[in-house]
Amino acid sequence: MRVIITGGAGFIGSALVRYLVLDKGYDVLTIDALTYAGCRASLKAVDGKQNHRLLNANICDRSAMDAAIAEFRPDRIMHLAAESHVDRSITGAADFIQTNVVGSFTLLEAARGYWNDLEGAAKAAFRFLHVSTDEVYGSLGDEGLFEETTPYDPSSPYSASKAASDHLAKAWKRTYGLPYGAAIWMRSFRQSG
Ligand SMILES: NC(=O)c1ccc[n+]([C@@H]2O[C@H](COP(=O)([O-])OP(=O)(O)OC[C@H]3O[C@@H](n4cnc5c(N)ncnc54)[C@H](O)[C@@H]3O)[C@@H](O)[C@H]2O)c1
Repeated sequence: MRVIITGGAGFIGSALVRYLVLDKGYDVLTIDALTYAGCRASLKAVDGKQNHRLLNANICDRSAMDAAIAEFRPDRIMHLAAESHVDRSITGAADFIQTNVVGSFTLLEAARGYWNDLEGAAKAAFRFLHVSTDEVYGSLGDEGLFEETTPYDPSSPYSASKAASDHLAKAWKRTYGLPYGAAIWMRSFRQSG
């Protein structure tokens, strides 16, 4: 299995990279712009492994994404790269719109171009996995749970930008047929934030 992981130097992404490279033995290409949130040291365990490579690139860079995908030829793209800290989104939303909305759009388009040109079993097996957050549903009080059918109700620039990227990924499936799955990372069932 050949997997591209965006945001693979981040908190969750790096654990996923270590798991897929070391425990599952998959071939992994980590794509990460190594922003303030990326931690190169968290990938130390996979340094030098033949089945892992780190590409320092920005998901907003369409030609870099096209080239990386064409060269690596993934079976899966797992999209975790994001600006992810709510407080920072309140003091400066622009990076969140750029990475979470424009970057996700750019990656979806690059994935669609690659998938369009696949044939047969490879085309049928390809998946784009989009990682989101429970914060797209807003906040809970002491009671209740979010469900996948809970109406979207984002309350910060961060959650609004993640909600936008969720809608883009869904639209790329419904409009273009891009095989996509979504994972909502539930930070907490009761209180988001
Ligand atoms: N951590 C949580 O509690 C939590 C909760 C819900 C959802 N999520 C989602 O899970 C995913 C991963 O979260 P995390 O906590 O690991 O985030 P993180 O902030 O720790 O890591 C994000 C990674 O993305 C990279 N990145 C940022 N902008 C980029 C760009 N333009 N191009 C390429 N790489 C870029 C950063 O360098 C970093 O390594 C995100 O999509 C986030 O929205 C996280």
